[in-house]
Amino acid sequence: MEPDATPPQPPGLPRLKAVHGVFFALVCAATAETILGPFMSDNGSQFASIGRMAIVFLSLYTLHRFSLTGLRSYRPGFKDLCTLTLILIGAIITVWAGRILAFSIIQYLATSSYELKLHPQLFDFAIPFAAGALLLQAVLGLHYALMYSLSLTITVGLYSPNNPILVPYILATSIMACLNLSRFRSRSAYIKAGINIAFISLPFALAYIIMSAPDNFYNIIIPIVGAFAGGILCIFMASGVTPIVEALGGYVTDMRLLEMATLDHPLLKDMSVQAPGTWNHSMVIGMMVDRAADAIGANAVLARVGAYFHDIGKMKKPLYFVENQAGGENRHDKLSSSMSALIIRSHVKDGLELGKKHKLPPAILDMIPQHHGTSTIDYFYKKAKKEAAELEGEDAEVDVSLYSYPGPRPQTREAGILMLADGIEAAARTISEPTPDRIQGMVQKMINKVFASGELNECELTLKDLHLIAKSFTQVLTSIHHQRIAYAEPAEKGGEKQEGRSESQAIKKDSTRSASIKAPEKNKSSQAVSAPESKKETKDQKDEEVADSDASKASDDKNQSDEDSKPAGEDLKRLGI
Ligand SMILES: [Fe+2]
Ligand SMILES: [Fe+2]
Repeated sequence: MEPDATPPQPPGLPRLKAVHGVFFALVCAATAETILGPFMSDNGSQFASIGRMAIVFLSLYTLHRFSLTGLRSYRPGFKDLCTLTLILIGAIITVWAGRILAFSIIQYLATSSYELKLHPQLFDFAIPFAAGALLLQAVLGLHYALMYSLSLTITVGLYSPNNPILVPYILATSIMACLNLSRFRSRSAYIKAGINIAFISLPFALAYIIMSAPDNFYNIIIPIVGAFAGGILCIFMASGVTPIVEALGGYVTDMRLLEMATLDHPLLKDMSVQAPGTWNHSMVIGMMVDRAADAIGANAVLARVGAYFHDIGKMKKPLYFVENQAGGENRHDKLSSSMSALIIRSHVKDGLELGKKHKLPPAILDMIPQHHGTSTIDYFYKKAKKEAAELEGEDAEVDVSLYSYPGPRPQTREAGILMLADGIEAAARTISEPTPDRIQGMVQKMINKVFASGELNECELTLKDLHLIAKSFTQVLTSIHHQRIAYAEPAEKGGEKQEGRSESQAIKKDSTRSASIKAPEKNKSSQAVSAPESKKETKDQKDEEVADSDASKASDDKNQSDEDSKPAGEDLKRLGI
């Protein structure tokens, strides 16, 4: 048998990415030798230069290959690798500038009236080695910052033979930077990180002082002051350069996302007026995905902001979506199934166009088509099949692609959570008496359904993640709907008729939501108007199904809701909820 000429690549290690690693390692090795080589005592020896370059190249390339295989979040495209390379080169230039400055100061003090003789290594603690780690943590994440930290440690360590403490020092301060910025939540995160870097630097400075047996006061004070100065310089450098890298590289940091999450964005303001039901839906989903993403260690800010913008496309034709119909006529009654499906599908395309027009970051734009993946608009597909069967007989075929979203499927954990929350929020609205058991059962059934459909196959959600997501969704939905039941009790005691009770529950349901979501003033009236429609919702589920695939998922759940109090039963036991 002829042997296979092309051995299979290990999963997650495409050949192209390995070649990119050669570029990364080679550029960094050549830059380090060009910039830091002249500081070496053997400067001028070509063999020494080639040897150092070879060591840096091999170390960085091995590190890159290892990270590709071993670190789940380290999957750099060429742009990401260029960013990493440029930041590493920037750090090497900073080291060079720091050493030039140190030599200048030493020379000045030696020739001036002070006549001080100081070692250049004393000033190493003032170099902001960790600034690049802060920067990479902000734009690309922890694993890239870790890659930077190890690469810089190896490179600078090799070019600092007289200061062995520098290797653990760079590693510790850079890793401290990564840990402190694991989640950006405010601008002050940089300040906290810088202060922590300064404090972790201090023991290293003290260790250096003890090891170097200082013979004057300056040999003691300079490393200590340098340690604090290094931390503060990290704050300025990282916070100053981050917006530039964001703009040039098209990256989005958590801080930029948080600025968008203030609901002050023109798109969100427009949505609260033009499509208040969708706005409400998006806010509830925002709470759900935030909690779930936190629970599984995904980016909660990205998930929340993605939820706010995921249905902006519905603003173009808001009245074709059930949450905005406010009990009025159902516009789909006059349309064919294929036309209805076309309109519903178009909210993805319209959303992308609106998002691009308002320059939403790529990470948020990606979530607009991914929140529906390639799922089918079940209600209209079934309706079309039924109509075709009546006209042409049982064998009549309906093109399913006309009733399916274009995709792609969720590619990230955040998009996967959003897809789950989207259907579950719609389903929760249809439970007539949302007890915690019913909510829990519905959440689990919906997650099982999406999981079985294969829509989550391309994101990295694990079964354990799904378990935690189910738990988080249940907690959020229970806290929203639980209050609704509690408020209804006094009305019942007051002797209200049964019909009145259900209506008051429905009104309170929406008012509870409004309170928890903090709707803008101008939006409250529209939500209050839509509230009484909940009564109609519970009466006529079929009409509700007509408007959106979300609602079609909801109707499935409604039909199952009676089972859902038991269910919680088997499915949940299986997943240990
Ligand atoms: Fe949608
Ligand atoms: Fe939605």
